[in-house]
Amino acid sequence: MIDRQIFGRQLIEIDEVDSTNMYVQDLLKNQKVLEGAVITAKFQTHGRGQMGTSWYSEPGQNLLFSLLLTPSALQLEMQFYLSKYIALGIVSFLQELEIKNATIKWPNDIYVGDRKVCGILIENNLRGYRLESCVVGIGLNVNQLDFGVYDDSATSLRLLLGKKLNSNDLLKSLLSHLERWYIKLKNGEYQLIDKAYHQNLLFFQKWATFEVKEKRILRKIIQVNSLGSLCLETRNGETEIYGMKELKFII
Ligand code: BTN
Repeated sequence: MIDRQIFGRQLIEIDEVDSTNMYVQDLLKNQKVLEGAVITAKFQTHGRGQMGTSWYSEPGQNLLFSLLLTPSALQLEMQFYLSKYIALGIVSFLQELEIKNATIKWPNDIYVGDRKVCGILIENNLRGYRLESCVVGIGLNVNQLDFGVYDDSATSLRLLLGKKLNSNDLLKSLLSHLERWYIKLKNGEYQLIDKAYHQNLLFFQKWATFEVKEKRILRKIIQVNSLGSLCLETRNGETEIYGMKELKFII
């Protein structure tokens, strides 16, 4: 690990676990965990995805880890900036690997072209009105070649770059990208984060098809606001605001 780097200064590597996010949550109950602690697993028996879904990953093929943050100075109403900066850290890491077309699919996916390469699950622990800790779970598809029923919608770095990669090397580099963006967040550089986030947002300022209550609609993304809601423009120039579970992208 690079000296001075906080992310990864405490590193726990496990072969098999239910979920690295759950592992960190348990650790937090029993002992002091340093900000920047990272837990990786080669395989998860109960990997968790967004909105109560499961995250399955072939054993030993991908990067599965959770990162602990303690962003106590971050106002609760700014918590979506955690998601924004994590997504930006991953996109800049992919750009360094010379992967073109990496974008952020609101709210928490990283896509390359029309396929998902990485999923993010952020679990916040509140104490009163304060963000006490935050477990950032990241599943990055590295060497997996076959995604079964998701073959048309998922991809991996190996499929994109045409070569096998070493997950440990990738972890070091990804953590340093994430840390660089975290420092910007800690320094209150919200405008810069917002600008970069929208520049890398899938379908930003483009007409695209979404599904709302089983109906397809054509809308333009005009903003992801500080609360993390998606602001869309209708054909009549009106603005509609959607929360996370209220709409689906048609890609
Ligand atoms: C999603 O796209 O639905 C989010 C997927 C997040 C998966 C990662 S893998 C490491 C960490 N541990 C989990 O149980 N989930 C996250």
